[in-house]
Amino acid sequence: MCGIVGYVGPQPALEVVVDGLKRLEYRGYDSAGVAVLADGRMDTEKRAGKLANLKAALAETPRSADGIGIGHTRWATHGAPTDVNAHPHVDNDNRVAVIHNGIIENFASLRLELEERGCKFTSETDTEVAAHLLGEELKRQGEDLAAAMRAVCRRLEGAFTLVAMYAGDPDLVVAARRNSPLVVGRGDGENFLASDVAAFIAHTRDAVELGQDQVVELRRDSVAVTDYDGNPAPVREYHVDWDASAAEKGGYDYFMLKEIVEQPQAVADTLLGRVGVDGTLTLDEMRLAPSELRDIEKIVIIACGTSYHAGLIAKYAIEHWCRIPCEVEVASEFRYRDPILNRQTMVIAISQSGESMDTLMAVRYAREQRARVLAICNVNGSTIPRESDGVLYTHAGPEVGVAATKTFLTQLVACYLVGLYLAQMRNLKFGDEINAVIEQLANMPQQVEKVLGTVAPVRELARSLADSETVLFLGRHVGYPVALEGALKLKELAYMHAEAFAAGELKHGPIALIEDGLPVVVVVPSREGRGVLHDKIVSNIQEIRARGARTIVIAEEGDETVRPFADELIGIPAVPTLLQPVVATVPLQVFACELALAKGNDVDQPRNLAKSVTVE
Ligand code: F6R
Repeated sequence: MCGIVGYVGPQPALEVVVDGLKRLEYRGYDSAGVAVLADGRMDTEKRAGKLANLKAALAETPRSADGIGIGHTRWATHGAPTDVNAHPHVDNDNRVAVIHNGIIENFASLRLELEERGCKFTSETDTEVAAHLLGEELKRQGEDLAAAMRAVCRRLEGAFTLVAMYAGDPDLVVAARRNSPLVVGRGDGENFLASDVAAFIAHTRDAVELGQDQVVELRRDSVAVTDYDGNPAPVREYHVDWDASAAEKGGYDYFMLKEIVEQPQAVADTLLGRVGVDGTLTLDEMRLAPSELRDIEKIVIIACGTSYHAGLIAKYAIEHWCRIPCEVEVASEFRYRDPILNRQTMVIAISQSGESMDTLMAVRYAREQRARVLAICNVNGSTIPRESDGVLYTHAGPEVGVAATKTFLTQLVACYLVGLYLAQMRNLKFGDEINAVIEQLANMPQQVEKVLGTVAPVRELARSLADSETVLFLGRHVGYPVALEGALKLKELAYMHAEAFAAGELKHGPIALIEDGLPVVVVVPSREGRGVLHDKIVSNIQEIRARGARTIVIAEEGDETVRPFADELIGIPAVPTLLQPVVATVPLQVFACELALAKGNDVDQPRNLAKSVTVE
């Protein structure tokens, strides 16, 4: 949510910053802006709409730039996405420019106070208060931008990453963070700042992770980090294990298309190195002692959106394999209902970005209640894993498309691994039983590959439904969260009404929605293992078909029992029931993506959304 870039170095600052913004545009894309210093003068340009609008404006007025610059791509919170509300914002003397990600909660009282002192506001944003406060503090702090930033941050409430530059120092960018992401890229004679390493990965893979409530002073040859009181602060340095090409489209028209195709590799990478030669699982990023794992009496999974759907599926696997009661809750609701947590509760926080504010706040609440928190996350060094007791990283690589695809499949794999690991640590399963599931998991990349090889008819079907107003999704058991995920993908990408139901619930009300020709996608469980469920859903298909639904059935290849009731049949490989979501989700991703493309939508940057939701 909002992408931030800062640069100090010998390269043309404007180019570096705009290129960084291009790589961060998935974080927010309703307006964009930059500030550079041109011969000691603050020069800003900002435009509503996508980055292309800013680029066009920049091309109209070529500008010189000294070696520093900052840039921002916005997801609006305060004030509509207009040129004026776009970042950067400047103080009344046009000496300081500021960009911001997050929400300054006490901005209204600060704005009033500043206006009383004669300050003139030009935008409706909360960010502008930071620009004016910095302008005032600079004078008070002897033109020391870092000291001014520390003083301002001490006054702000809420979540923010702030990045500022000042006309009086052409070798300095200063940034601060609280509850919002910020990472430094260390180069040779140049340094970078961004919300995400993707912004500078083409220049350096050496990163520095900033902690909570820290201020960084970035110069060409130095990176100095302090807390808000000016004391030197510890930081963690790390090397990014993917390169710029991983964050390119690689010949695809959209990142989402590429990311769907990357799923077999992503699943394989998430399994890699986690199974010892003797078959035992070693999840050594879990900083939880075996005794702590044995003490767990209850598991609570918290997550949002697609990650929440991964959690719903994890519940089936964990309860089945470990016999530990497992609850799954939407993170934004969790801490407001007074949940019962204690030292024997393990909270699993699933978050692709590791930055979702709702999940982060739920993690903090859980830790305050003394629960042990394990994060499942795709972004190394992000806030949620840093604040958790343990972390299991998914190795999906960078996901740029706003809709989660490969990160979802890898979250499933990570959840299965946690379930098996707990079963192993608590001696709930024999080694050979665990090995058998691991082998099935190891086979999943091939199975996903197989699905990808057979989705051409799904694309055709999707295009034929581009004019539908509603699509319903049904599932049972693990197929229900898969149905929820299919509906979410369709909503966010195709802007269509899509709803999912547990197939058994249909007759309790939603069946009234069925009318002639209404497309209903049904995820059919495997016939093996859960035969009863299979037969029940076949009855459900007949019930909706009898009422006129156009049935689109996703079932195991060779499952002839569903054929007579399927207007469209999508075959998926036969895999064990609990693992079926890994294969059953893929056609639904393709379906939503293709249908959205047929409607002319941008599947990488759907309207109103942002990849990483860093506000509550
Ligand atoms: C949907 C999607 C979102 C995210 C949700 C949580 O395609 O991407 O629903 O799953 O915003 O994000 P993370 O996993 O980063 O916490």
